[in-house]
Amino acid sequence: MKTSKVLFFVVVLVVIATMAGCAPPAAPAPTPAPAATAAPVAAAPTACAKTYKDLTVGYAQLGSESEWRNANTASVKETAQQLGVKLQFSDAQQKQENQIAAVRSFIQQKVDVIGLPPVVTTGWETVLKEAKDAGIPVILVDRRADVPEDLYASYIGSDFVEEGRNAGRTMAKIVNEKANIVELVGTVGSAPATDRQKGFLEITKDMPDMKMLDSQSGDFTRDGGKKVMEAFLKKYGKDITAVYAHNDDMAIGAIQAIEEAGMKPGTDIKIVSVDAVRGAFEAMIAGKLNATVECNPLLGPQFYEMALKAVCGEQLPKWVPSKEGIYFPDNAKEILPTRKY
Ligand code: AHR
Repeated sequence: MKTSKVLFFVVVLVVIATMAGCAPPAAPAPTPAPAATAAPVAAAPTACAKTYKDLTVGYAQLGSESEWRNANTASVKETAQQLGVKLQFSDAQQKQENQIAAVRSFIQQKVDVIGLPPVVTTGWETVLKEAKDAGIPVILVDRRADVPEDLYASYIGSDFVEEGRNAGRTMAKIVNEKANIVELVGTVGSAPATDRQKGFLEITKDMPDMKMLDSQSGDFTRDGGKKVMEAFLKKYGKDITAVYAHNDDMAIGAIQAIEEAGMKPGTDIKIVSVDAVRGAFEAMIAGKLNATVECNPLLGPQFYEMALKAVCGEQLPKWVPSKEGIYFPDNAKEILPTRKY
């Protein structure tokens, strides 16, 4: 092969590799997938003198509102222990001001890296600038923030719009494109709530018999989902034929409300939700939930890998997407024992 041709292929390969590292890759296809697992913990970058044991990390967790969140917290804490990372952990109880205060306190403590799952997308510029000025890399975990890219080192998490699309496609199949739907929305202003709604509507907007009767926030909690569903049932009664819940906890709350109203969840009212936590598998086995779209909370290993790379001065990809599937009642019983959360 001529030198010019070889050079051409090398350039093409370099361009492809660079794009793979910097741009969000296409989201995974909506097929049933093997259970999400935590990515294996990578060895420390070889050219760097630092190891995981040298790291002090602050993690400004947003709350403990759901099974998903508890699994995420466990992943962050357990992985720190396994690796010997010193972890400062705080729980903001779903309040942005608490998260901002936690980030500021981590800056004062001069931690090496800060992990932040922003409860909502807006209002982060000032505190992220403070972290940048202090030379502390911030890694966004789980949720996006609407800030310029130079204010964070990387974002590790899901494609929430694609999760919404997958929920829309799945619901359309289950109800043969004909349903009166109520939507249990997550925390208002949060990336997963905004994006899961967007993705679902993108799929169903051109299906004339897929009607959205109402949308209300249940704040990603079981109790919130139950209360909103009770109000929907009071208002629309038996006109409701389907529920789209932005997370499993709200779906489980809705299941309770539907049963208390004397109807059969999963049969009289079809339900699709997001997360694929154990509670959702139990509900599917009981015939009360029709599908769950996975959102992987086991982000601890990827977080520390990126944290170490950041302190070693490596350039990080701006998005490290999670791999996720969709689960249905027919094989929920076999899959449940393999679930890690
Ligand atoms: O940001 C991820 C979402 O937050 C999960 O879907 C939900 O359960 C959690 O509270």
